[in-house]
Amino acid sequence: MIAYRAPGAYAAELVVPASSVVPKPARLSWEQAGGLMVAGVTAVHALQAIGLRETDTVLIHGAAGGVGLTAVQLVVERGATVLGTASPAKHDVLRDLGAIPIPYGPGLADRVRAAAPEGVHAAADLVGTDEAVDVSVELVADRSRIATVAAFERGAGAGIKLLGGGPGADPGAAVRAAARLQLTEAAGAGRLRILIAGSYPLREAAAAHRRIMTGHTTGKIVLVP
Ligand SMILES: NC(=O)c1ccc[n+]([C@@H]2O[C@H](COP(=O)([O-])OP(=O)(O)OC[C@H]3O[C@@H](n4cnc5c(N)ncnc54)[C@H](OP(=O)(O)O)[C@@H]3O)[C@@H](O)[C@H]2O)c1
Repeated sequence: MIAYRAPGAYAAELVVPASSVVPKPARLSWEQAGGLMVAGVTAVHALQAIGLRETDTVLIHGAAGGVGLTAVQLVVERGATVLGTASPAKHDVLRDLGAIPIPYGPGLADRVRAAAPEGVHAAADLVGTDEAVDVSVELVADRSRIATVAAFERGAGAGIKLLGGGPGADPGAAVRAAARLQLTEAAGAGRLRILIAGSYPLREAAAAHRRIMTGHTTGKIVLVP
């Protein structure tokens, strides 16, 4: 079983309400199952907030992160076009998942325009940089179709949607709770791949956090008992 939400889960054993538990797809390893939910429900919430449609071209910032990789796959599954920012070393991973990879950094808006001459309908900032917010606002005409899960201050100033646990953000509790079964169904059917960047025993949680803090992992860092 997978428990989500499960506050206090840095533990070998945990008591959670029955309503927090969903079945673990047999296809997933325990590491993949452990990496599925936080990134997954955040990705689903972001795509719901930007009003994803199958005819859209969507810009995903931070596409190679835990949240980004799931968001990319869900956009592709929906049939929309996805442009994903990442460092060049990760472009093959994004291409494999069906995204058009774009390097972030100076000149990003022009590179996106070149890759999507018809324009970008919606954008999700899944990394939290100023650049992600600024380029999204520059390229997407409708600010209600831009969301951030990390750049809360800049996002508030830009009038875009703020999602998750940040100040003034929409926690999206109902969307996220409903997303759990969508995610287990997609992962169980092999339509959603969960990439594991590293697995650490619980006693090495500090090392796991140091790895996350590099800000350049590809996929999830998970703790195992
Ligand atoms: N609000 C919520 O509910 C919620 C939930 C979960 C996570 N978050 C937040 O969402 C963010 C991403 O989380 P995550 O777990 O996906 O992170 P992660 O797995 O650590 O991935 C971060 C990714 O960001 C990319 N990156 C680094 N600098 C970048 C830049 N300047 N432009 C574009 N991409 C860049 C890295 O790729 P490269 O190596 O290619 O640079 C890396 O793949 C974090 O800030 C996290 O706190 C929010």
